[in-house]
Amino acid sequence: MSKQNVVICRKLADDLPETLGRFSYDKLFVLMDEHTERYCFPVVREYPCLKDAVTISVGAGDVHKNLSVLSDVWMHLSREGATRHSLFINLGGGMITDLGGFAAATFKRGIKCMNIPTTLLAMVDAAVGGKTGINFNGLKNEIGAFAPACSVLIDCGFLKSLDHFNILSGYAEMLKHGLISDETHWGRLIRFDMEKIDYNALQDLVCESISVKEKIVKMDPFEQGMRKALNFGHTMGHAFESFALAEDCPVLHGYAVAWGMVCELYFSYLKTGFPKDKLYQTVQFIKENYGKLNFTCKDYDRLYEFMKHDKKNLSAGTINFTLLGEVGDIRINQTATRKEIDEMLDFYCDVMG
Ligand code: GLY
Repeated sequence: MSKQNVVICRKLADDLPETLGRFSYDKLFVLMDEHTERYCFPVVREYPCLKDAVTISVGAGDVHKNLSVLSDVWMHLSREGATRHSLFINLGGGMITDLGGFAAATFKRGIKCMNIPTTLLAMVDAAVGGKTGINFNGLKNEIGAFAPACSVLIDCGFLKSLDHFNILSGYAEMLKHGLISDETHWGRLIRFDMEKIDYNALQDLVCESISVKEKIVKMDPFEQGMRKALNFGHTMGHAFESFALAEDCPVLHGYAVAWGMVCELYFSYLKTGFPKDKLYQTVQFIKENYGKLNFTCKDYDRLYEFMKHDKKNLSAGTINFTLLGEVGDIRINQTATRKEIDEMLDFYCDVMG
């Protein structure tokens, strides 16, 4: 997989033209959704380097990450005369970088693509590492490709336009990066004051977080082994996310991951010896900031059904987990029995109150 250049912007007005200057292209396209068109595009609209860019706007939200919207984007590219030498910029959150990255990867067998993530979740996760795709047939990210953007421009100024819930959603992936990397980084993350955000300190943490992800992706770009570390908290997390959606009260991805980490850290404590004090410190941080998802033991069967359909499972009937023996001590390809899954859920219900 080709190397992805991540630029931490000091001033997007300078960094964008400089980055664009490194590539040759005949036409520039900017994809955004209705929210980033309103709140983020005005920041860049007047830049001379984007003067002739063709803009494409799609509906906001994960429901639009589908084949029909993808086809609209292809149609736009086709009608506006995009060629294999055109350059495609994704300006938005994870939905835009996933959909736009896949549109660019497939149009005329692939055109160059650049990401300018505007949410915390996209900065530390979706926009980095080359995963692109769409939802299909009711399944998340069912169709896609590993296709890294040539450059990712991180401008933390966009974070000021995010509400607290979306900051917390992205922060959960940062907490995951802390847990799978090292104790100092993890310690800084759980001491961070989420109620009074210091955006300069947040930017430092974002940079650290991105470099954790970059290191892992470099080792294993196609998720054959170590990249599964990035799935920590996600087996339970995806089940919580699907459950909440089915209950008609959808939750942000990062919240589900945070709750998933409560369960998977507990399982790590039981199965791979994760230290009890760090388990409780992390759980306390999550409880204070993310609250809890409401379910009872009557819902365990449904949660288990969602886990059985997770695409991370290696074979039918076994549920795959990434666990930790310590902060930074990653144990991939662990499995849990139904009884162990029930124990994790019991712990969650007890500890989250
Ligand atoms: N979001 C997890 C990964 O990029 O592998």
